[in-house]
Amino acid sequence: MELFELIQTLNTAHGPSGDEGAVREVIAALARPHADEVTADTLGNLIVRKRGSGPKVMLCAHMDSTGLIVTHIEKEGFLRVGTLGGIAARELLYTPVRFKNGVRGVIVPEEKAEFGKLKLDACYVDIGAKDEEQARRMVQVGDTAVYDTAIFLSGDKVVSPYLDNRISCAVLLRVLEELDACPNDLYLVFSAQEEVGLRGARTAAWSIDPDYALAVDVTDVDDTPGSEKLGTVRLGQGAAVKVMDRSVICHPQLVETLERLAGEREVPVQRDIMRGGGTDAGAIHTTRMGVLTGGVSVPCRYIHTPTEMADLGDAAACVKLLAAFAQEELTRL
Ligand code: CO
Ligand code: ZN
Repeated sequence: MELFELIQTLNTAHGPSGDEGAVREVIAALARPHADEVTADTLGNLIVRKRGSGPKVMLCAHMDSTGLIVTHIEKEGFLRVGTLGGIAARELLYTPVRFKNGVRGVIVPEEKAEFGKLKLDACYVDIGAKDEEQARRMVQVGDTAVYDTAIFLSGDKVVSPYLDNRISCAVLLRVLEELDACPNDLYLVFSAQEEVGLRGARTAAWSIDPDYALAVDVTDVDDTPGSEKLGTVRLGQGAAVKVMDRSVICHPQLVETLERLAGEREVPVQRDIMRGGGTDAGAIHTTRMGVLTGGVSVPCRYIHTPTEMADLGDAAACVKLLAAFAQEELTRL
């Protein structure tokens, strides 16, 4: 399946942190025909294995998205919500949201809210209920919601909610489709609860005990007006090879291997330092006695907002680079 079509398919499934069941099922169904083994673990990670006689290689993309969770239902039928993952209130205004059971609403700031210092506490979700009783028949405290915004193409760019990190899940599914014989013992992990603290990747890495690992995620850019220089990469310039983020300093051997493979296969790449935010690489590299860990990222604008933007050419470059890495004869440590 093409990348864009895969992202569209994954977007139809509900999957905020801790509530990944629906997206896990969709990914499992897409992966099964190409895998030797598909399992889920206690935290809800999906682990797709392609057996090989070489070292264990773990490619990890989190499948959860940021989201909202109902904390209070008011007498007038309005909902108060908390966040799952890092979402700033100002990024949410007047955004349509969708609950797992299909109920829809819109997130709205209170009339007197000060936009400059807007907090989520000064916002509410309006699901159109006339009072508390009607609202309680539609949702309950603890129900989760995600953005209900559109996905569309503009040239080579895809604009969509939850490109963080469905675009990387789509990338891993493409890698799986493209693999011929694989010398390494390959584990594609679609991890749970990354956005709330890299939780799924931690237990998945412990159980797999990989020799090599790459986190596959989106990364912050430095190519928009007034850029705060939190990232180093630009859209359309290729796959981002992670050097560092807030959670990890990548092993130089992995940076070197990825850059060498990119050179050999003529895959466009750029070096990536993300100064704000971490990735699953952070949890993986400190597992057990330590794991040789790196990262390959899709550059992405407006991360965690209802309309993220990425370049499909960059995602295709990530597929090529990861497929090359998965098929490289790596030596067991
Ligand atoms: Co994120
Ligand atoms: Zn992410």
